[in-house]
Amino acid sequence: MVGRTGQNPVGFDYTAAFRTDLPPAAQPSSGMPAFNFTGGNMDPMQIPVAKLIAAIRTVLERDGQNLAFYNVGTGPLGYRPLREFVAGVLKRKAAMDISPDEVLITSGSLQSIDLINQLMLSAGDTIIIEEATYGGALDRLTAMGVDYVGVELDGDGICMRSLETTLKRLKDEGVTPKYIYTIPTVQNPTGSVMPLDRRKRMLELADEYCVAIFEDDCYADLLWKDERPPAIYALDAQESGRRVLYCGSFSKTVAPALRIGYVVADWAALGHMAALKTDGGTSALAQMTLAEFCQNKFDDHVATSTAALKEKHDVMLEALSEEFGTAAEVTAAKGGIFLWVKLPDAIDTSALFQAAGAEGIAFNPGPAWTADGAANKSKMRLCFGSASKDEIRTGVAKLAKICHHEFGVPIRSGNVERD
Ligand SMILES: Cc1ncc(COP(=O)(O)O)c(C=O)c1O
Repeated sequence: MVGRTGQNPVGFDYTAAFRTDLPPAAQPSSGMPAFNFTGGNMDPMQIPVAKLIAAIRTVLERDGQNLAFYNVGTGPLGYRPLREFVAGVLKRKAAMDISPDEVLITSGSLQSIDLINQLMLSAGDTIIIEEATYGGALDRLTAMGVDYVGVELDGDGICMRSLETTLKRLKDEGVTPKYIYTIPTVQNPTGSVMPLDRRKRMLELADEYCVAIFEDDCYADLLWKDERPPAIYALDAQESGRRVLYCGSFSKTVAPALRIGYVVADWAALGHMAALKTDGGTSALAQMTLAEFCQNKFDDHVATSTAALKEKHDVMLEALSEEFGTAAEVTAAKGGIFLWVKLPDAIDTSALFQAAGAEGIAFNPGPAWTADGAANKSKMRLCFGSASKDEIRTGVAKLAKICHHEFGVPIRSGNVERD
């Protein structure tokens, strides 16, 4: 075929017009692994399908006509009844005395992270992170050309001495980090909860070194025991100005595929974030359905699904002990959906990941979840959120077998020597 210019167009390919600085392309989906211990997926059996059907029917019959308007006519912060629910639940559970006008509904807390990053970060900036943290946040920082510095964690979250030393060192180098990114309540991946005194100390340090705090609280509802400390946001004294930006999500309490999260901040930040949120509004149908569902059913639903998660946590812990024995160092989580596991130094979990993948087992190798990947090559994150108890038992047994085949460890399964 001859083109309008008379030249033969054969050979043109639009990939030649793509940006040259694109991040690596996604891989096509190869379906769900048989033993899925990866990502932040939840338990299909715990999705309240019948109640969501009832909620969606109610809101469509009552307010369906409002879908004619972007944001169903309730403005750029999102559907007001859902913002009212978020403000109420955070007041009740996290001692956050906020109004619905301090809540911006987002398309999952990933969008909250993007908006906070767009608000605050430029290439070349530095932020402080927990030495093991959410890989999705790390990917974003790398893509933006932002440097991150890890601070030590122990069983109570960030060690304040390490934070102080790091802040001081950076100050001596003339670097003011833009924010401290923390997941204080059910830390991802370690499952710890930061106690009150550390939260207060973090605020003091933030003040002293003029650094903001970004509090990511997306697992805070999934605590085994009802001992949720006040959010760092709640402890932030407002008279001297705000230091904390907060985000949360319905992904872990109701369903990740609904894609509903939120940012809490004052208008000085939210006004800019609402302007930076150029998607025409987060799905109003999902917001309306959630608001209706959550009204009377949120607490009971979260209690039931957290109890089911705790059972699966215990099954995974037991399976690790049975199949890996002392080769797996693991601390029980205080809530959530992950176990953070240290294998012997000789094991490279990225290589284990490849071998396990071929057998239908997926997990997250440590390097992608840590500030110092090389130092964490023998760690892995296992999610017990979506697999059934049988899949957990069988998958962990298979993983131990593959690990023994590839690395000669673990030597035993239970009391029996492996061949
Ligand atoms: C700590 C943390 N923050 C944010 C997210 C993003 O969650 P979502 O966008 O589904 O709300 C995740 C997902 O697993 C996470 O672990």
